[in-house]
Amino acid sequence: MENSYVIDNGGYYCRIGRSGEDDCEYKCRSIVSLDDHQVVVGSDHGNDDNYVSPMERGIVLDWERMETVWNHAYQAVSCNPSDSAVLLTETILNPKSNRERMVEVLFESFQVPYTQFVWEGLLNIYASGRGSALSIMCGDGTCHALPINEGYLMTRGLYRSDFGGSDITLYLMKLLKESGKLNFNKKIVNNIKEKLCNCKGDSSDKIYDLPGGGTVEIGDESVRAANLLFDPSPICGDELSIPDMILKSALSAEIDQRYLFVNNTVLGGGSSLMAGFDAKLQEQMKEKWAIAAPTLKSRVITPPDREKSVWIGGSILTSLSTFHQKWISHKDFSDFGPSIVYRKLSAS
Ligand SMILES: Nc1ncnc2c1ncn2[C@@H]1O[C@H](COP(=O)(O)OP(=O)(O)OP(=O)(O)O)[C@@H](O)[C@H]1O
Ligand SMILES: [Mg+2]
Repeated sequence: MENSYVIDNGGYYCRIGRSGEDDCEYKCRSIVSLDDHQVVVGSDHGNDDNYVSPMERGIVLDWERMETVWNHAYQAVSCNPSDSAVLLTETILNPKSNRERMVEVLFESFQVPYTQFVWEGLLNIYASGRGSALSIMCGDGTCHALPINEGYLMTRGLYRSDFGGSDITLYLMKLLKESGKLNFNKKIVNNIKEKLCNCKGDSSDKIYDLPGGGTVEIGDESVRAANLLFDPSPICGDELSIPDMILKSALSAEIDQRYLFVNNTVLGGGSSLMAGFDAKLQEQMKEKWAIAAPTLKSRVITPPDREKSVWIGGSILTSLSTFHQKWISHKDFSDFGPSIVYRKLSAS
């Protein structure tokens, strides 16, 4: 396809750019003002509380606001959707009805000529040049583990936790409130999380410069919040930690395929950038595998640009000549209706 775009439709960021490029051209927060349906971009807004996301845990719930975000993203890159094919990312276990609605909106409201959908976890490993690996996604609304063998998802090893960066932010907010240090909005606390939280750091006080002037000292809250990735039980007792997801997912494979996953565990998603996370995960996985599979050498791959690996993987995939036959055309949609999303799959 000569003219195609990739939209990584995340619950925190919507990223858009032309296929074949190394990086996306534009990203905006996937939130829309409650009052006037204006998409809020970057740091233009003061307080997340006045905005809503059209998505929850990677799943679109508010289609009108979702269209507002997509329209905004298209305009930002001066792309007329009716001139360009578009690959949209989706979260794993996206309900079927949601994918059907998505294809309807794209063909009917946006008049795109071609479209297709791919799981973000699959694109994550394509970005690292792999077709087989254990893809570990740590996003804003979910974390998940996908064992992929030559582009095929091994469904029995699929684990998804409804827990992600937004939960870490909320937990940090709670801890800070409890210690009487700060009672700020989610946007500021999110920024503290990205700047000061550390899975391995010491818990001595660190200084945070407040946007309007002044400072605040953040102590062991920054370490406790970051470590939810290793133990989410303080906020959601039922959800698996990242190390447990890796262990269960890789062990679900046939014995002769386990090496592939133990040795090729690829991190992706913004929350995997948490300071100290990669080093601590490497350490913990070494220890866990030394017991669970002592003959296998464990390796966690941490691409430096992993917060955008999903978009990059989409850019690579749509540039392959073999992908051209995968696009769902407007004619396919007219002939089969929304069920075309099951007839013409991008992957298994
Ligand atoms: N350096 C960092 N340290 C900790 N967290 C970070 C860092 N950078 C980004 N994040 C967090 O990563 C999350 C966004 O990640 P990502 O862009 O992968 O999400 P998304 O694709 O929009 O969401 P999802 O895929 O879960 O729907 C946010 O919670 C953000 O605060
Ligand atoms: Mg994502």
